[in-house]
Amino acid sequence: MFKRTHTCGELQKVNIGDTVSLNGWVNTVRLHGQVVFVDLRDRYGKTQIVFNADSFSGDFEAVKKLSMEDVLSIKGQVKPRAESAINPNMATGEIEVVVENYIMLNEAAPLPFVISDRDNAEENLRLKYRYLELRMEELQRNMLIRHETYQATRSYLSAEKFVEIETPMLMKSTPEGARDYLVPSRIHHGKFYALPQSPQIYKQILMISGYDRYFQIVKCFRDEDLRADRQPEFTQIDMELSFIDEEDIYSTMEGLTKHVFKQVRNVELSGSFPRLTWAEAMDTYGSDKPDLRYGMELKDVKEFTNASDFNAFKSAERVMAIVVEGGAKYSRKIIDELTDYVKKYKAKGLAWMKGENGGFTGGISKFFSDDLHQSMRKELGVNDGDILFMIGDISSITLNALGHLRVEIAKRESLTKKDDFKPVWITEFPMFEYDEEADRFIAMHHPFTAPREDDIGKLDSDPSNTLSRGYDLTMNGYEIAGGSIRIHSQKIQEKVFSLLGLSREEAIEKFGFLVEALTYGAPPHGGIAFGFDRLVMLLAGTENIRDVIAFPKTTSATSLMDESPSNVSLDQLDDLRIQIKQSEK
Ligand code: AMO
Repeated sequence: MFKRTHTCGELQKVNIGDTVSLNGWVNTVRLHGQVVFVDLRDRYGKTQIVFNADSFSGDFEAVKKLSMEDVLSIKGQVKPRAESAINPNMATGEIEVVVENYIMLNEAAPLPFVISDRDNAEENLRLKYRYLELRMEELQRNMLIRHETYQATRSYLSAEKFVEIETPMLMKSTPEGARDYLVPSRIHHGKFYALPQSPQIYKQILMISGYDRYFQIVKCFRDEDLRADRQPEFTQIDMELSFIDEEDIYSTMEGLTKHVFKQVRNVELSGSFPRLTWAEAMDTYGSDKPDLRYGMELKDVKEFTNASDFNAFKSAERVMAIVVEGGAKYSRKIIDELTDYVKKYKAKGLAWMKGENGGFTGGISKFFSDDLHQSMRKELGVNDGDILFMIGDISSITLNALGHLRVEIAKRESLTKKDDFKPVWITEFPMFEYDEEADRFIAMHHPFTAPREDDIGKLDSDPSNTLSRGYDLTMNGYEIAGGSIRIHSQKIQEKVFSLLGLSREEAIEKFGFLVEALTYGAPPHGGIAFGFDRLVMLLAGTENIRDVIAFPKTTSATSLMDESPSNVSLDQLDDLRIQIKQSEK
């Protein structure tokens, strides 16, 4: 191998005349009679190298057989390109290297897909050959963005006096939101460790131990249904702080977010981030992670539908609408598609009418008087050419279905720009959600979240209307971070456990060490965790979490490259004294 003098992204006009050595992969080969052009690629870029039969002293026939992804080492002279051959889109586009000598370091087998054409291969095939896909420029760029995000995070938090502390990967199974991934113990037969869903308990204990400000960039594991922004193992920037309140959290996290966006993307996020209470977010956007890059806010139309002859909405708890500017162009087919779409979110249907001739036409417009048409147009801001979509149901279904419709329409109408970043804090979440199936309350954030000071009394009298000191940071429709001020009083913690249906004994059995630790001088504390992968998704401008993780799992939690999960040997199972039950089927 010729020791490389330059990377493939480096050579410029100033190097003309130099003899250089490059190592890299064959990105493309073009045969032009007695001249062969190759783009040689490495992580840093591409350089055009030229084999000229007239001047090349080696085996020219072998050169003609070079193929994509062969690994080459070349030595040659940097020459200016002919004016017509200059490529302004390539960092090295003004020069080429005329090869004097080359060594084939490794020939590549025929490829399962073309590396330069990502869209042309099925994702499953790309995931099986992830090492090839990772050579693609787009993924290499994403991995570098991820790298820079780690560095920016560490430098900011370290300067802010946060201490990086690792917490165990093998821990006790505790009831958090999702199912645990379990690891059987060989030494303690029949017992299991759990992989952390988050280091929640450890970080609170670190506060009790006096570390004041903790952070960790940490893997978390959750056995839950996967989506485009969810992986079974994912990464958090996990933080906890003592002697703080919500304002300290907001300002520190805004500082971190601004620093990361500036360092990684040179984007200035100016001013304080806006805040919405959970109730405001739900009422205005039908979502607790609203995308504020566009308007299309939800409007209450109950008074109008009540005054109309349209009876289907009369008994609905909530009737809300969105106005889609220019939406009167939607055909019956599109409206049917959108109706099917909202049905996925349990809406019974999607009512509509179009703004036309100074009134409304189509859909359910005939059930509304002319006067109602006029007042609705005025109050809801409907013009000719717009469409009004309405859903009536119980409040949660109306808001959720319309919130999703808002996002779907924004997608169809391309209302968003990738480089527009709109952070917003969501605050004042309810403490509890009622789980109909289990017939009990579950914690909306987690069981360690403190109730708002003013609401402590409601824990006894009106638990379902108790608001918490939880907060999420959302951006462009993603929840990028979530956290809360914690309960530091053992008495309130026990009260919350009991509302969650955990007896004192069960609570001590499950969280005993934390319940006990709280009795030994716990400082007021709180924290937050950023979904690191989601943050990188936004920075990289992708909507697929797998694009920012080097070795991701599929939506069915498998790794196609290493074929995990896999069977294990009987000996391994014997060691663990585990027997596999025959499946039911
Ligand atoms: P939470 O469960 O809200 O809070 O998680 C924090 C952030 O992690 C990201 N996230 C995920 N990212 C990818 N795949 C997943 N499956 C996934 N699940 C969550 C989200 C989310 O905002 N211990 C608490 C934090 C705290 O209270 O301090 C916690 O884990 O971006």
